[in-house]
Amino acid sequence: MHHLSNLSPDFVWGVATAAYQIEGAVDVDGRSPSIWDTFGRVPGAIANGDTGDVACDHYHRWADDLGLIRELGVDAYRFSVAWPRVIPTGTGAVNAKGLAFYDRLVDELLAAGIRPFVTLYHWDLPQVLQDKGGWPARHTAEAFADYAAVVAAKLGDRVTDWTTVNEPLCVAWIGHLEGTMAPGLRDLPRAIDASHHVLLGHGLATQAIRSATTASTAPNVGIVLNPSPVDAATDRPEDLAAAIRADGHTNRWWLDPLYGRGYPADMVEAYRYEPPVLAGDLDTIAAPTDYLGVNYYFRAVVADDPSGPAPYAKQVEVPGRHTAMGWEVSPGGLARILTRIAADYGTERIYVTEQGSAWQDTVEPDGSIEDKDRIDYLERHLEAIDAAAAEGVPLAGYFVWSLLDNLEWAYGYDKRFGLVRVDYATQQRTMKASGHRYAQIIREYRASQG
Ligand code: IFM
Repeated sequence: MHHLSNLSPDFVWGVATAAYQIEGAVDVDGRSPSIWDTFGRVPGAIANGDTGDVACDHYHRWADDLGLIRELGVDAYRFSVAWPRVIPTGTGAVNAKGLAFYDRLVDELLAAGIRPFVTLYHWDLPQVLQDKGGWPARHTAEAFADYAAVVAAKLGDRVTDWTTVNEPLCVAWIGHLEGTMAPGLRDLPRAIDASHHVLLGHGLATQAIRSATTASTAPNVGIVLNPSPVDAATDRPEDLAAAIRADGHTNRWWLDPLYGRGYPADMVEAYRYEPPVLAGDLDTIAAPTDYLGVNYYFRAVVADDPSGPAPYAKQVEVPGRHTAMGWEVSPGGLARILTRIAADYGTERIYVTEQGSAWQDTVEPDGSIEDKDRIDYLERHLEAIDAAAAEGVPLAGYFVWSLLDNLEWAYGYDKRFGLVRVDYATQQRTMKASGHRYAQIIREYRASQG
């Protein structure tokens, strides 16, 4: 790997997880079911009939996992708070035991010199709110802001780094249009309603966090998107137009309103449906944030698909290396999307809030995991962010997805993204070679900074 010479001296190195993917303990200490508990009970919804019931049992093993985070030597840990633990009824009464879990985690992270990056919504909506309409209902955005205020009031004397929502694209498009994530709907108007209310929830929660936090430094508040560069499969005019629509669906539908441009008119036309915007909503959504989080996994290569679901563009197979998820390895795509966002939207600070890869890991007879593919993937993507920084992209940090192997949503536990292996039968954790390599990269980077 070449020397990372273009990153800022205070560049933040981290690892990321999300509550439902690691915590387990779904009915402990007053937690109520989330939409993923419900979805996991639908036959065939999650591969192998897997559920989040136990996951990595992080709710009980968090102190050991903190030891692993320390061993990696990262500056920061990005995790999410489970809304159904904190407000089991969705709105109203706060469950002190649920909040206490995160309170203790924050204290121990800070004691270990690790900066907590707290995500408020990583897809585990309380089922009780789904029963009242879920994200297609405006009420959910307001409930989200109330929940954000509760968490910020509790943790905001110590936590400065906040993410409102992780990957609204997955919430709206995959959860309500493609149907392969909770709540599993396939309904374009409801998906568009959900997209607007998730963005509105982000805007309202941003205000709530700013008013509730009391740490001596001002909060660093942002949203995390999962943009992808989009290429047309051929230069047929139909495919070129499909690529513009797919870019609208994946990237501009989110970035344009967040950066004050409203929803892209070409997409409203393509969807033939107007998002349910009320007076003031677009200003709320576009209220300034302190950073943009970018989760990057692949580039999209698309062809026209007039009879398919919105955006009427289908992903085509491309030659080259692919991860166990079937995703093309494209570090150049990361540099491209970062450069494009910085140029088109004038973003002042970007964290790569997730980046990582699933592979078929092999456990050697001595118990070690020599995951060379994951190391190669990591190094090539770090070179890509260094190249983007050289182009002037204001990169502030990089978080590997993920600390641990975990529940890869509808793909279940077979898809392993961790720097640390989890043996689900015993809950034993083993640092993979990629974890050791990441720790070494961080050490070398710090040494190079003097
Ligand atoms: O596991 C997910 C995570 O929850 C959100 N971003 C993508 C990851 C890999 O698919």
